[in-house]
Amino acid sequence: MEVIIKNSYQEISSLAAGYLLNTVKNKENAVLGLPTGSTPLEMYKIVVNEYKKNNISFKNIKTFNLDEYIGLNKTDKNSYYFFMEKNLFSHIDINWANINIPNGMTSSIESECLNYENKIKKAGFIDILFLGIGKNGHIGFNEPAEYFEPHTHEVKLHQNTININSRFFNKIEDVPKKAITMGIKTILSAKKIVLIAAGSSKAEAISKTISGKIDPRLPASILQLHNNITILLDNEAAENI
Ligand code: GLP
Repeated sequence: MEVIIKNSYQEISSLAAGYLLNTVKNKENAVLGLPTGSTPLEMYKIVVNEYKKNNISFKNIKTFNLDEYIGLNKTDKNSYYFFMEKNLFSHIDINWANINIPNGMTSSIESECLNYENKIKKAGFIDILFLGIGKNGHIGFNEPAEYFEPHTHEVKLHQNTININSRFFNKIEDVPKKAITMGIKTILSAKKIVLIAAGSSKAEAISKTISGKIDPRLPASILQLHNNITILLDNEAAENI
């Protein structure tokens, strides 16, 4: 594991944006794995600014998002589809047919998950996958559990994740209780992983991710097994390591 600690959220965001932009520049048909949440917001802002300033094209880039809430329409401002459109996709020249986000409104979750998994395989797997981390160590929406769920699957969100994510909703009752997420094997099949964490609320999860026991009750700990992972931390997220 490569761990890079910087003084500020801004600095780790520009490092993360650099990884993304270099991948796009070096491989015009690269496959990107993308996260949502507050953490990657600055990274996306920098990517969009650089895209506008430089001659970078996303035309042949494919993307796969980590997860999506079940029961929210694409047009719902809390859906991850809406988030991605607002913060990245509507600003770049990506081909909309190359964007993949689990469909949380599907009538068959099982076949949606299977299809998603197959689409990733067919695309030749993810070249670079960006991850945030939940306070409880979740990655994507792989919540702490008794075992690692390998493939894209439906997950029941933990109450503390619902509480934390309720900050984006009008009221806590509006937060979906379920989501579709890439599984652990899906995540580990990415050729390169970049995890970004900022702020002291992530410090405990980060120290367990880096040096704790590999344990499905701290899902990010499995990342110790990946052979090409970079963890970008600000000082606060790194305070327990
Ligand atoms: C959500 C997302 C995760 C994200 C996590 C942390 O639950 N499903 O992919 O990493 O929250 O979000 P934040 O960056 O807002 O702390």
